[in-house]
Amino acid sequence: MYRSHVLVCSGTGCTSSGCVEVQENLEKELSNNKLENEVKLIQTGCHGLCELGPIVIVYPEGTSYFRVEGKDVKELVEEHLLKGRPVDRLMYKEPISEEQVPYYNDINFYKKQSRIVLRNCGYIDPESIEEYIARGGYDGLSRALSEFSQDEVIEEVKESGLRGRGGAGFPTGVKWGFARQAPGDKKYIICNADEGDPGAFMDRSILEGDPHSVIEGMAIGGYAIGADEGYIYVRAEYPLAIKRLRKALEAAEGLGLLGENILGTGFNFKLKIKEGAGAFVCGEETALMASIEGNRGMPRPRPPFPAQKGLWGKPSNINNVETLACVPVILSEGAGSFNSVGTENSKGTKVFALTGKINNTGLVEVPMGIKIKDIIYTIGGGIQEDKAFKAVQIGGPSGGCLPEDKIDLPVDYDSLTQAGAIMGSGGLVVMDEETCIVDVARFFLKFTQTESCGKCTPCREGTKRMLEILERITQGEGKEGDVELLEELGSMVKETSLCGLGQTAPNPVLSTTKHFRDEYNAHILDRRCPAGACSDLLIYKILEDKCKGCTKCVKACPQDAITGEKKEVHVIDQDKCIKCGACVDQCKFEAIVLG
Ligand SMILES: Cc1cc2nc3c(=O)[nH]c(=O)nc-3n(C[C@H](O)[C@H](O)[C@H](O)COP(=O)(O)O)c2cc1C
Ligand code: SF4
Ligand code: SF4
Ligand code: SF4
Ligand code: FES
Repeated sequence: MYRSHVLVCSGTGCTSSGCVEVQENLEKELSNNKLENEVKLIQTGCHGLCELGPIVIVYPEGTSYFRVEGKDVKELVEEHLLKGRPVDRLMYKEPISEEQVPYYNDINFYKKQSRIVLRNCGYIDPESIEEYIARGGYDGLSRALSEFSQDEVIEEVKESGLRGRGGAGFPTGVKWGFARQAPGDKKYIICNADEGDPGAFMDRSILEGDPHSVIEGMAIGGYAIGADEGYIYVRAEYPLAIKRLRKALEAAEGLGLLGENILGTGFNFKLKIKEGAGAFVCGEETALMASIEGNRGMPRPRPPFPAQKGLWGKPSNINNVETLACVPVILSEGAGSFNSVGTENSKGTKVFALTGKINNTGLVEVPMGIKIKDIIYTIGGGIQEDKAFKAVQIGGPSGGCLPEDKIDLPVDYDSLTQAGAIMGSGGLVVMDEETCIVDVARFFLKFTQTESCGKCTPCREGTKRMLEILERITQGEGKEGDVELLEELGSMVKETSLCGLGQTAPNPVLSTTKHFRDEYNAHILDRRCPAGACSDLLIYKILEDKCKGCTKCVKACPQDAITGEKKEVHVIDQDKCIKCGACVDQCKFEAIVLG
């Protein structure tokens, strides 16, 4: 029996900010103070606030410490663990109020979250199957195998209202039903852990922080559809997730929770890991299966759907990591418990990677139906440096940008689609007044254009043409009619592309031409970037009321672009100016500004 548990986050974020040293120093200090038998040291998965890592939490009271460095450990052990005096300086401070918050559960970032998928992330040692079981793990599998028929499991999942978290939001129980009804003895269940969206790390964190929840979800799905084999397709750039998955698979096999005759019920199920090379298109299900088969990961037309003809021609079912991590909870606690959270058509929670110009960036899990405003201001702690909110991009590269008047929109599948965005897999990028919306559309389109596999012409050529137009506009070379052309091309690419990549690639462009038309017009008609972000459209100008005519800037300018008499206002010849900024540094009167 230990009097205290000290949890050190060992997710990828905290590892890169030095948690290994913190962990090693803690081990040493505990031993130096002969506390090894009183205080238990545990490494956990990600808490979501990776930016403030390494994170250390001391239980039973839940005192949390952020940005802990190796050199802080001695003080932590001596003050908190020996003398019972928590170390204030390492505690969290709310971004706007600056209020110090000692306990993890009182921090606003966590208070408004509902952690169902992330229930164990940050609480248990992901490398210990015993800790997973102690938190109710494998209870869902044991109930499914002993109390439910295959069809009853599918009914339970249908009743829970769970929809796929990988992007399209298809009802999981219905999809399982298709695979179950497909004729054939050999079937596969596949976990899609390709996670190609830029900036997304939801699936990685689940696999690193709670790998057994995904394995258990797959075993339940395998039983339901009649599969005896499964694959986890995970990108090779996720070495920690792969390492923990391998350990978890070994441990589950060791306890008879995977393999032959699971829990004595006659159900056989084995799981393999397939490492992907990290191409975005390999997340598309037919491309993913081709990749597992050892072929080039390229989509093929559907039908036939994977449920009829999937991996090696056998009926197969593909689900996202987060979808699968919800399944054990549905089986252990019942569909009713799961569908009590969320909205009419969007049940449960959704994990988002919250990034951009927001104070608390990180991973958050929120109940479906929460307002965008609550995510940004309560959980996210508001916009950095108190700047004005401009837009939010939801749904990753296939998603859309929503303007300020949509800030009260509930986050659910239907509301987002109606507003021109999508739930996607969970990217949420917050933009402030200084973000150029045309440039954002260009950024996402560039990503999808580069990742297009090139198999079909509309996606391969159409996205290229659209990107060229966007690049021209941001460089001040836009032409009248460009927006109409973008819209025409965008709808053509959406309608005629073979797979989801092309069918959704124009979304960021189409949502921004719809909601931010004025900003496109300013670039094209006035050659002006209202956000002051497109460097080609910026001009350096001298403010008449501030210039003292000291001539310092004239000497600094390599282009002889500045003229003016001594003690009189100077001017910049815009045709000569190369926007090097050298003049700004010389002006003591802050008379030269970008506009
Ligand atoms: C280009 C492209 C990339 C995709 N990438 C992923 C991915 O990384 N992870 C994922 O789960 N689904 C991804 N999807 C969606 C999957 O093809 C599939 O719909 C999903 O894995 C099904 O699981 P779900 O029903 O649990 O959402 C992608 C789709 C497309 C078109
Ligand atoms: S839509 Fe794009 S990514 Fe999909 S098959 Fe066609 S070229 Fe490839
Ligand atoms: S350095 Fe500043 S104050 Fe002096 S001439 Fe140039 S702009 Fe005017
Ligand atoms: S930005 Fe550079 S080129 Fe332009 S006026 Fe200033 S010093 Fe001259
Ligand atoms: S990795 Fe430690 S909080 Fe995310």
